[in-house]
This record gives sequence, C-alpha cells and structure tokens, in this order.
Amino acid sequence: MRFGAVWSLRTGKWMGVVALTISIGLISIMPVLAQPAKTKNTISSSEVQEGFDISPIPKNQLNMKGKNQDLVGLGSYLVNAAGDCSGCHSFPQYLGEGDKAGSNPSAGDPFENTPPQTTTTQLVANFNVSHYLAGGQCFGPFMARNITPDANGLPEGLTESEFVTAMRTGEDVHCTNDPTDPICTLGPPTPVLQVMPWPTYHSMTDRDLKAIYEYLSALPSAQPCNTVADGCPGFSGSAKNSTTYAYTNTDDCPNPAPPQ
Ligand code: HEC
Repeated sequence: MRFGAVWSLRTGKWMGVVALTISIGLISIMPVLAQPAKTKNTISSSEVQEGFDISPIPKNQLNMKGKNQDLVGLGSYLVNAAGDCSGCHSFPQYLGEGDKAGSNPSAGDPFENTPPQTTTTQLVANFNVSHYLAGGQCFGPFMARNITPDANGLPEGLTESEFVTAMRTGEDVHCTNDPTDPICTLGPPTPVLQVMPWPTYHSMTDRDLKAIYEYLSALPSAQPCNTVADGCPGFSGSAKNSTTYAYTNTDDCPNPAPPQ
C-alpha cells in the first residue's frame, strides 16, 4: 500500500491511488492527495553565496529591485566563475593594482597585491569595475558588445526571451532589431555570432540562462573604453575605422601594450 501511494505521487496517476484508498481508509490518504506533485528545481545556496562573494560589482550596488535574489546570485556565479563573460566583454578586464595610467593590465597578474592566493582562499581579482561588461574589446573586426543594462534596464537592449534566443541559436538579435547600429557593420556580415561561444552556452538549462539574464539586468549601466568610433584592429586592417585601440589613455581605460 505504501509503495502504491509513493508511486502514484511520482507519476500523477491519481485514479490508481483513489482505488487503493478504499482498502486503507479515505481519511488517512486524502490530505496527501490534496498536495500537487512538486517539481524539484532548487538553487544551490552555496552557488548563490559564492556568486555574490565574487561579483566585481558588490551585492549592495546591484539593482535588486523586482529581481529574484537567488537567480541574481546564481547568475553571478555562472558569469564570473564559469562563463568568463568578462574575459571578452570587459575591456580592459583588469587593472594593475597601483599601476600608473596607461600601464598594460593584460601583462600583469590580476591578483597582484592581493593576499596570497591558495586553492581555498577567496580570489578577488582587480577587476576594472567602471567598465565591467561594457564591451569594446575587438576580435579581428568583431567588437564585444556592451551587455550592461540600457536606458530601459535591458542588457544590450535585449528582452529575456531575445537573450535566450541569442544564447541558444547564435542569432545576432541586437543587429536584427537595429541593423543601423554602427557596431553591426564594423565587421563583415555573418549568419551567426562569430566570437560568442554560444554553441557552448546553447547547452545551459533555461534556469541558468534566466539566472545570467537576471544578473546582467542587476548590473549598473557602464560605457566601454573602446567604441566603434575608436575602431578595431580588424584582420590586417579589415575593420571599418581600423585602428589599434585609439581610445583615451586613462587610469581606468589604460591602452593595451602595442603589438610585440
Ligand atoms: C570569447 C569571447 C566571448 C565570451 C567568452 C563571451 N562573449 Fe558575448 N560576445 C562576444 C562578441 C565578440 C560578441 C559580438 C559579435 C560576435 O560574436 O560575432 C558577443 C555578443 C554577445 C551578445 C549579443 C547577442 C545578440 O544577439 O545581440 C550577448 C547578449 C553576449 N555576447 C552575452 C555574453 C554572455 C552572457 C557571456 C558569458 C556567459 C558571453 N557573452 C561570453 C564575445 C564573447
């Protein structure tokens, strides 16, 4: 009898259980039947905690209004501990601690002057927080996008379902929506996103993609150091406005070292 009741809850075949209740007593089983079968989809609290601990933008500076806290934390974990979104979408990604304006952060150790790192200590790198995920890095003629929220609070101007479409199919939704944005014609036209590792992100669960979107939506809006007007190196000068990162050289926008 016991087995029958458990089995029925899993499969949702209520009729079988109702028949069984006749022999074991209606009153004892009815409260159980009144409960809907639950789908377990819990978020690991340790990932949420870690996500908040490692976010280059501290939790108290994230816009949590109307957001699901657990999804934001998980999103940070996926963006900062797994997806390496800032490796391409922040430029420069790190600043050298105490470096002078214009030093080359990419040549340094992102954990420079932080406490000694071990396999168990919490690693907090010297992120360039003012331009976190604001894009501007070039890959040949293709420029990583600013994926912080726009004026309407939408990351790169994408709704959640548009974001999921981009991650799952590689469609350049932003450029489908606004082909006149100069970032869309910096490089040659392509059928799908060329640099974005969407074939990998494609396989994430709906819940995880939603979490990434929730985290991106909670970020402060930021502007890139390098813009389309500043240019991209391209492949042998193939990009429009071809330059070698000609933006202003400042403390939080240090120019990369010239090619060796
Ligand atoms: C290897 C570098 C790289 C990594 C890692 C990366 N991106 Fe991108 N991403 C790009 C580039 C470059 C573009 C724009 C052009 C292209 O890919 O052709 C882009 C485009 C996008 C777009 C615009 C898509 C559209 O359809 O409008 C979004 C959104 C995005 N990335 C989000 C992310 C997120 C979230 C992560 C981490 C989970 C991430 N990216 C990781 C390089 C990267």
